[in-house]
Amino acid sequence: MKLLVCGGAGFIGSAFVRRRLAATDDTVVVLDKLTYAGNLANLTDVEAEHGPSGRYRFAHGDIADPEVVDELVVGGDTDAVVNFAAESHVDRSILDAEAFLRTGVLGVHVLLEATRRLAEARNGAGRRPRFLQVSTDEVYGSVPEGKALETDPLAPQSPYSAAKAAGELLVQAYRSTHGLDIVMTRGANTYGPRQHPEKLVPLFVTNALQGFQLPLYGDGLQRRDWLHVDDHADAVGIVLDAGEGGGIYNVPGTGERTNLELTETILRLLDQPRSLIRRVEDRPGHDRRYAMDGGQIATLGWQHAVGFDDGLAGTVAWYRDNEAWWHPLLDGDWRAYYDRQYGRRLAESVDA
Ligand code: NAD
Ligand code: TYD
Repeated sequence: MKLLVCGGAGFIGSAFVRRRLAATDDTVVVLDKLTYAGNLANLTDVEAEHGPSGRYRFAHGDIADPEVVDELVVGGDTDAVVNFAAESHVDRSILDAEAFLRTGVLGVHVLLEATRRLAEARNGAGRRPRFLQVSTDEVYGSVPEGKALETDPLAPQSPYSAAKAAGELLVQAYRSTHGLDIVMTRGANTYGPRQHPEKLVPLFVTNALQGFQLPLYGDGLQRRDWLHVDDHADAVGIVLDAGEGGGIYNVPGTGERTNLELTETILRLLDQPRSLIRRVEDRPGHDRRYAMDGGQIATLGWQHAVGFDDGLAGTVAWYRDNEAWWHPLLDGDWRAYYDRQYGRRLAESVDA
């Protein structure tokens, strides 16, 4: 297949590209805007291995730019569009939601329009292009007990998850209205190598490595179900190949933990004192718990390959050994964000 992978320079997208090129004969074009979260260093090995044979190419651009997208989707005679592109951090969506809506709604619309034009150009002859939207468990909102099913109502609580839910609804509307072949995944909280240091696991690992405090929101008893990035990437691949048209697939993690338990495990793995943990003012609208049922994706043959203990230990070791990857990300913009998000919180923090 010829794939267009949008947002392929980010954390999960780059893992998908790396693993897909290794496991198949597909060709991959990555379209990425290279926002603060996009990082060409995530694809250096991919470029070196698959660039020369022509199986991999990088295109710098915005999914909300119809000219760029049309040229790649229609001009490239793409077999599938796999969309990872999004603004992905809840805290930033609370500070300023505009870019979340621009990419998550208008950008998704541009991708869908181009896919529709390609389907029409093929006019029934040849393969139908497939559109895979990578979404999130956060569209269900907080799940106080039990596990969310794909048929449950959407109840997003943050501007990030509201933008993701809006993108999903648009994707479904293009199936109903224009007959597009669409599939979607809803992944759990993902961790692993090459995640931007703004997210919980890499933030706490890199802070602990530098001897900095770990700002834990509220009582730290919020629960998340952690999924390794390689498992997430492989789930997207399986849904792309075998998902039923119109299908939505939860991609759960390997088990729930409170943020406090996770933080204590990270500190143990790094042999750092518990006194680094600081309880800070909570995130507004903070979802207490995410949990999903994975029965649907299991029918496609997907299961976890990475257990949480091994996955977390490997991730912590990766950050310890790859300071050259993360240290350049802690630039002036990062410090400005960090001060805005954590400056007052840490000044007013208490012992955990
Ligand atoms: P990320 O922030 O690491 O990567 C996002 C990528 O998209 C970056 O490379 C960025 O440059 C690119 N991008 C952003 N706006 C763009 C635009 N307008 N045009 C082109 N490229 C653009 O995010 P991630 O953690 O890899 O998440 C990927 C996807 O998976 C997102 O859609 C996210 O909602 C979803 N998801 C993430 C998680 C998680 O825990 N990280 C869990 C479930 C679902
Ligand atoms: P995050 O990695 O931002 O993912 P999400 O908000 O998509 O679940 O946060 C994971 C959990 O960790 C979430 O409950 C918020 C919490 N958290 C903190 O307590 N402190 C922090 O500095 C961050 C970034 C997150």
